[in-house]
Amino acid sequence: MKNGQIWQDIDGNDIQAHGGCIIKHGDTYYWYGEHKGGDNKIARFVTGQEVSRVDVIGVACYTSKDLLNWKYEGLVLESEKEDIASPIHTSQVLERPKVIYNEKNNNFVLWMHIDRPDYSYAGVGIAVSDSPLGPFKFLGAKVPNKQDSRDMTVYKDKDGTAYLFHSSNRNKTMNIARLNEDYTDVDGSFSSVLEDQEREAPALFYHDGMYYMVTSGCTSWDPNAALFAICPHIVGKWKLIDNPCDGKYARQTFFGQSSYIFEAEGKFYLMLDHWKPDNLKKSGYSILPIEITSDNCLIIPWQDEWLGI
Ligand code: GAL
Repeated sequence: MKNGQIWQDIDGNDIQAHGGCIIKHGDTYYWYGEHKGGDNKIARFVTGQEVSRVDVIGVACYTSKDLLNWKYEGLVLESEKEDIASPIHTSQVLERPKVIYNEKNNNFVLWMHIDRPDYSYAGVGIAVSDSPLGPFKFLGAKVPNKQDSRDMTVYKDKDGTAYLFHSSNRNKTMNIARLNEDYTDVDGSFSSVLEDQEREAPALFYHDGMYYMVTSGCTSWDPNAALFAICPHIVGKWKLIDNPCDGKYARQTFFGQSSYIFEAEGKFYLMLDHWKPDNLKKSGYSILPIEITSDNCLIIPWQDEWLGI
């Protein structure tokens, strides 16, 4: 699979799983992401700036045993076509879907960025399913802890506590909000980190006593330089370190933007979206291995191809 390009599933159709995540359950990898298979439209941010969008179709799921051959499993959460007041109506914004497994309830919880077409709502949506293949039941949308929330991810810590990481304070700050035991809501405890750094697209992992967070800058669909931050505690004083990308076009994150970091066979991999603002449904993907140095630095070189694990 050529990194930076749109990839195809085992039936030869374009993989529609943008802004997504890959989780492993049993011996299967599940890739969830935004189905952006509609035609481009133009919307406007509250600032008046034009932004391309597609109508919400839903959250797509693909499965694989080898991270190379992906089978389309359909939409695990579908947009609402009739009720215009629904937060997941086709006319709204549903981005960056992330799924975590809840051991207590033996179910799967899906979090996503929910917004109006002008991005003025800035909230999250939550849905649950007993099966990783869905269908997920939409529980509703909210503004977590009354803090605006745009790009986001959810991260499950070693002790089973899960957190919502979300760009807040008009994307100036990253908030870390603890979830309740069911992972279906925030529990009221949150802190703000990377203040005034304007980071978004958070992707996290933990290795050997250190948490790592890769983020992008805030330039809509256009690429910018990724940065990684570290902290020995999940809720602590996160410190921005450097751009982890290495080589040609490192300053543009190889024309991609972080969406998720997953672990496979003891190694960590960064997923990138390569947005095509003129035709969002053709936006590409990359999966790049992450090297971790002994002094807690990350190095992510470009690779032309994703060859699996
Ligand atoms: C990016 C963000 C994407 C999407 C886009 C819309 O900054 O990472 O998820 O929201 O803006 O312009």
